[in-house]
Amino acid sequence: MTPAVIVHGGAGAVPEEEFAARLEVLSRARLAAWEAAAAGDAVAAVVAAVTVLEDSPLFNAGVGSALNREGFVEMDAAVMDGETRACGGVAAVRDVRNPVQLAREVMDSEHVLLAGEGASRFARERGIPACDPASLVTRRQLERWRRARRRGDGEKAGTVGAAVMDSRGRLAAATSTGGMVDKRPGRVGDTPLPGAGNYAEAGLGAASGTGYGEYFVRALATYRAVSALRQHQPQRALELAIAEVAALGGHGGMILVDAAGRSWWHHDTAAMCVAWRDAAGEGASCRR
Ligand code: GLY
Repeated sequence: MTPAVIVHGGAGAVPEEEFAARLEVLSRARLAAWEAAAAGDAVAAVVAAVTVLEDSPLFNAGVGSALNREGFVEMDAAVMDGETRACGGVAAVRDVRNPVQLAREVMDSEHVLLAGEGASRFARERGIPACDPASLVTRRQLERWRRARRRGDGEKAGTVGAAVMDSRGRLAAATSTGGMVDKRPGRVGDTPLPGAGNYAEAGLGAASGTGYGEYFVRALATYRAVSALRQHQPQRALELAIAEVAALGGHGGMILVDAAGRSWWHHDTAAMCVAWRDAAGEGASCRR
């Protein structure tokens, strides 16, 4: 069957002059996902797409992650296989260039979530080398952090993700983030928590969220959207999930692939850059 792929680069106040550059990277991520999805491996597809986005300094994940209150990068990531409901996540990791690849390794372990130093040690066990934490810091994030320190408020959005149905009909989702600028050290958001920032379930859909993580956790936002597919059309399911986040006080966006192989997205922020491809065609946009 024809696969379906959708990838996002975070919801928030994306400057218009950056739309083209972001959409170019998202299109490359879409292609990476498409090739693996066509080969029948939805999990490999979402990991490949998110790896491309983590490698780009334009997004708040991997290289280019936000800095915490002490000026360090601490990243969260997750992968979920809808077919088996297996999931893996990492939280507050400081020295791994591609946290989504480490989350994929956790998915194959006896645990579902590893944090901090333990996650780093597990990375070494699995042959993922340590990177210099300074190599993840970009000038742009350093400036954003300095601004946040001066004004006392930090950017609450960012995050990258992918949702896929492969040529065998298997669903998967992956999400990765540097979290909020100026967050407390040790803060973990929605991204690595199954059902909060990332979720996939066979027969229903796969979803990845972006936005103010604390509210996505309280809303169980991606689980809410995927579960709502039992009663609602996919666009409505996304709207209901983001409305629940907003009712609690947060904002953001979400992508979703349904079990019929269609890609969907919704956000209540100024912008959200996405790229998609499915049986109906392909596209890329920073506004709905
Ligand atoms: N949604 C990303 C975060 O709040 O960490």
